[in-house]
Amino acid sequence: MIQRIAIIGLGTMGPGMAARLARGGLHVTAYDVAPAAIERARAMLATAEGVLDALGIAPPSAGAGTVHFTDDIGAAVSGADLIIENVPENIAIKADVYRAIDGLIASDTIVASDTSGIPITQLQAHISHPERMVGMHWSNPPHIIPMIEVIGGEKTAPQTVATIRELIRSIGLLPVVVKKDVPGFVENRVLYALLREAVDLVERGVIEPEDLDTCVSWGIGYKIAVVGPMALLDMAGLDIYKSVSSFLNADLSNRDDVAPMVLEKTGASKLGIKSGEGMFSYTPEQTKTLQAERARKLVAVRRILEGRE
Ligand SMILES: NC(=O)c1ccc[n+]([C@@H]2O[C@H](COP(=O)([O-])OP(=O)(O)OC[C@H]3O[C@@H](n4cnc5c(N)ncnc54)[C@H](O)[C@@H]3O)[C@@H](O)[C@H]2O)c1
Repeated sequence: MIQRIAIIGLGTMGPGMAARLARGGLHVTAYDVAPAAIERARAMLATAEGVLDALGIAPPSAGAGTVHFTDDIGAAVSGADLIIENVPENIAIKADVYRAIDGLIASDTIVASDTSGIPITQLQAHISHPERMVGMHWSNPPHIIPMIEVIGGEKTAPQTVATIRELIRSIGLLPVVVKKDVPGFVENRVLYALLREAVDLVERGVIEPEDLDTCVSWGIGYKIAVVGPMALLDMAGLDIYKSVSSFLNADLSNRDDVAPMVLEKTGASKLGIKSGEGMFSYTPEQTKTLQAERARKLVAVRRILEGRE
């Protein structure tokens, strides 16, 4: 049974994940190689805890569910039943972490990666017990989005997948098992199919960026939160899908390189919120308000979807 969890890497994803796992009664040790990241993570943990309060996810009973920060990797992983690796999306960096912990953990400690899409089969080549390595792909913000993908690589033991799925379920979250170790898994494959078409439409001048967002958020997005794509096919009728897809599929973007608009913007350091400009422009004040507003709306929508309002 998993009770002690070590999180390695406390950037965007780690702190919210730590907060949510602790609310599930688990003991979390949180480690990052950068002292500044640990300090930032403490503040992010407090913010995430406030959001979890708003979501109505109560703290566990006294003594259960703790988060302890450390700058010592040995102390972080010692005695852990599960390690969640959460370092940047780069195989070399991830492999360094696996090598560093390999000799420090028990042979049955599960090592999970939050990779957004590197096949688990590639990652498990860098660890001495590949049967215990598994993908555990959270969605951002991890303390708000309840779905987590669980992915086994070629050498992952079925029991490892089952243990992680059960852990996720036991703390009230929604595990989804991805049965084949395809790049990007399922969530990001679907998202990137949507993003490719959205960028293409804006790039070709079919629609303004603001209108694209209104169209997708209030058309597809709002509906899809209630009726998933498979159920949507049944709602629309497979006969309708058959006739529309018979001519539309051939007209959709199928580009297999990065769109010129994206290359142009990244080349000019227009990276989005983090640089103040991307598809839209942001002042520091707007950024702050936007993050709080988005968290508030996601919490409100989730409470409604769960039938708690
Ligand atoms: N950001 C997202 O929306 C998102 C969503 C789902 C999954 N992921 C995945 O989660 C992982 C982490 O993403 P992120 O956005 O939190 O990254 P990030 O860049 O925000 O944070 C990574 C953290 O890892 C730390 N780090 C780097 N090398 C380390 C080492 N050797 N040991 C310990 N810590 C180290 C860095 O100091 C940093 O704090 C990636 O694999 C990413 O693809 C990200």
